Amino acid sequence: MKILVTGANGQLGSELKAFSANYPDFVFDFTDLAELDITNKTACANYIRSCAPYAVINCAAYTAVDKAETEKEKAHLLNVEAVENLTKASEQVGAYFIHISTDYVFDGKSYMPYAESDATCPQSEYGRSKELGEKVALRYEKSMIVRTAWLYSSFGNNFVKTMIRLGSERRELNVVFDQTGTPTYAGDLASALLQIIDKIAKGEKHFVAGIYHYSNEGVCSWYDFACSIMELKGLDCKVNPIETKDYPTPAQRPPFSVLNKAKIKAAYGIEINRWETSLKKMIQEQGR
Ligand SMILES: NC(=O)c1ccc[n+]([C@@H]2O[C@H](COP(=O)([O-])OP(=O)(O)OC[C@H]3O[C@@H](n4cnc5c(N)ncnc54)[C@H](OP(=O)(O)O)[C@@H]3O)[C@@H](O)[C@H]2O)c1
Repeated sequence: MKILVTGANGQLGSELKAFSANYPDFVFDFTDLAELDITNKTACANYIRSCAPYAVINCAAYTAVDKAETEKEKAHLLNVEAVENLTKASEQVGAYFIHISTDYVFDGKSYMPYAESDATCPQSEYGRSKELGEKVALRYEKSMIVRTAWLYSSFGNNFVKTMIRLGSERRELNVVFDQTGTPTYAGDLASALLQIIDKIAKGEKHFVAGIYHYSNEGVCSWYDFACSIMELKGLDCKVNPIETKDYPTPAQRPPFSVLNKAKIKAAYGIEINRWETSLKKMIQEQGR
């Protein structure tokens, strides 16, 4: 059984590569732009036809949230049109299509963790492109959308790595405390995705199409997250809590985007680590 991964050199794709060794029953095909440009419809159809995968995991995306405000077409091409290419190509061979989306599809005006059935209302071009991509993928009955949030990894660039760099260079740092959510260690998400596919392949669980939420457990602000990073790294850098209005960015972020993970846990028997536990693990592994 083959698993095709697109965007495999990114944060999540790289973590999937690392975890793939635990699943010798699957044959993995890791592709990124050089092997399979997902914006090329014909290439997607041909590649997936000849690969004939059991499941396709799409980790490729336009992820530059602020840049998307001025690169709307590029975001649309990768987050909507390319998703359509992969959805149709997967449908032609009957492969499960697992597509990753984001908490930025919500406006963040809730005060309760978001469930999959809650109304979306993205506030940014990135969020709007991801919301449209979800709709395109869901036209196929073997599609699963996994929305995640605040992704970080030892691979690629992310908030954790930026904080470690800035914390080593500066004595003080300002970080917003009025945006609340939950960080997600991409290694945990990669492990959950492979557990789900494995359980379905073994007949232990039934595939149920639709949207699922996955982040680590717990709640924090970016300020809390930054403080924990400094503490765990032993960095002597004071973190000051500031308001979003004092740190303007081109794209508007949801002030609250905690995800309710009850559905994925119940449907696939997934256990989820608290964000502090996973952050500690990532930082310890990085220090080795
Ligand atoms: N990062 C977050 O905080 C976050 C939060 C919530 C949800 N998500 C979602 O989680 C998923 C994975 O995110 P990530 O952070 O792992 O992404 P990432 O690190 O930006 O990786 C995306 C990968 O896709 C590749 N790619 C770009 N254009 C491509 C194309 N035309 N064909 C094939 N591959 C292409 C990129 O290559 P280049 O680097 O060369 O462009 C990169 O290797 C995405 O769907 C994202 O929207 C992310």
